[in-house]
Amino acid sequence: MEGVLVTAKKAGSTISVTVVTDAQGRFSFPPDRLDAGKYALSIRAIGYVLDGPKEITIEPGSEGKADLKLSKTRNLASQLSNAEWIMSIPAPDRDKRFMDDCSGCHTISKVLNTTYEASEFLDIFKRMGLYSPGSMPTKPQPLLPGPRGERPRVNAATAPRAAEVLANANLSQSPTRSFELKTLPRPKGRATKVVITEYDLPRKDWQPHDVIVDKQGEVWFSDFGDQFMGRMDPVTGKVASIALPMMKTDGSPKGGLEIGEAPNGDIWVSGMYQGGVYRWERASNKVHAYKIPDQWQTPSTQESMVSPQHSDVDGYVWTNDQQDHSLLRLDPRTGVYEQMGETKDASGKPIPGYGMPTDLKNRPFLLEFSGTRIGWFDPEKKVADVFTTPFVGSRPRRGRVDAEGRLWFAEYGGNGIGMFDPKSKSIKEWQLPIPWSQPYDVVASKGGAEAWTGSMLTDHVSRLDTKSGEVVDYLLPRNTNIRRVFVQEAGEKQALWVGSNHGASIVKLEPLD
Ligand code: HEC
Repeated sequence: MEGVLVTAKKAGSTISVTVVTDAQGRFSFPPDRLDAGKYALSIRAIGYVLDGPKEITIEPGSEGKADLKLSKTRNLASQLSNAEWIMSIPAPDRDKRFMDDCSGCHTISKVLNTTYEASEFLDIFKRMGLYSPGSMPTKPQPLLPGPRGERPRVNAATAPRAAEVLANANLSQSPTRSFELKTLPRPKGRATKVVITEYDLPRKDWQPHDVIVDKQGEVWFSDFGDQFMGRMDPVTGKVASIALPMMKTDGSPKGGLEIGEAPNGDIWVSGMYQGGVYRWERASNKVHAYKIPDQWQTPSTQESMVSPQHSDVDGYVWTNDQQDHSLLRLDPRTGVYEQMGETKDASGKPIPGYGMPTDLKNRPFLLEFSGTRIGWFDPEKKVADVFTTPFVGSRPRRGRVDAEGRLWFAEYGGNGIGMFDPKSKSIKEWQLPIPWSQPYDVVASKGGAEAWTGSMLTDHVSRLDTKSGEVVDYLLPRNTNIRRVFVQEAGEKQALWVGSNHGASIVKLEPLD
């Protein structure tokens, strides 16, 4: 069988290594990845379970060999990814659109393994609107009352049909499901030439939303649901937790989102509902908190992004407030914020941004997650130039600016990758082959010859050849709700880093070609 993921995890270790079987059904681990010792073996191949062997001992100086036997699973439903559930539900795609939002804090299977009737789902939609995005069922975090805490998760127009779709697909009508479960194909060809390393985090409720590797090769990540950032040694997997002081004591949800390295090596994290941003100062190993001034604070103030990447140009670090879609610029030397207000184009039309990477002159781009536009903000004139994606319903989300100033971004609704070229002022797009990929973020590599993205729904990361348009989709060994993607490059070699936002692990994927 081609495309079976085989994972080896050493007894007592927090690191597991995964490779994929080739067209002849063979697999092998690079010799430098597994030393002598006892390993647990596991697999991922949709429709199959591992009969055995489930462990192997590698003796010092010798080769370990295992001939794995699989058998058909009797519980296919337990193996489906979020996307496979959505694909399987018997309803037109437009009636299932709302479901991508249901994977923000838990799996879709959590929703479908219930016995609620449609009327009960209407109440659940309201309850789901009360939680902050950094929640999980094991760690619910209520929003404070306020404009963002009182919106049902599904809007009034869509809710009745959405409730009906869920009540037809869950276990409310019968103890088994009457519809066919659709699955994605196993990886093949280039998608099997990969080594995946997964590092378990010391706390099970850690939500590693954004992961980056700093210039010295150390791994940093945010915690979407708590007041920490993590610093990991990629060789040993050892994690240090760095506490982020609370800025609000009124019960505002905890957690940070974007993490970014400034040119001087300091690490910045956005503080979400804590109402500001944080800086870890490399020289002193101290954390500084920059709270937005009180006159701009409400219970819904939310700094989701921080952009320190080009702060060496003019000294400023950018952040935003999701509450009113305003942009703010911080001068870390004085701690003073400048409020730029809600971003508008020259005609006064607002362009709300979710992602906000800065260009090489430290001017922020705005990615309109609720629409189809890209804004390019000029801090001097305080207006944005606005460009619309050709893909309909694209929902641009996050991305990065490359060394040539091109903006690479995810099209969550368009199921694609977008690139804005500031020279031609045009947008180029590529469609992803797997339906319901709903990519969250994009990063270019090899000088723009390739681009990477990860899915919140399919457990896949995708690698695009920007010339040919070819996409290689790599399956990850576990259910992995992926947010930010980061590429580490060393010559021809590249490694993609992502966080498993609900799985408390950091994943490194190294293609072998
Ligand atoms: C912002 C985070 C968040 C989002 C987004 C979210 N949920 Fe939840 N969900 C939770 C939390 C926290 C729990 C556990 C606490 C609870 O049941 O209220 C939960 C539990 C559930 C349960 C299980 C309830 C039970 O009694 O077993 C269902 C069903 C559910 N969610 C449905 C949905 C649907 C449908 C959507 C999308 C429309 C959705 N959720 C989106 C946070 C979220």
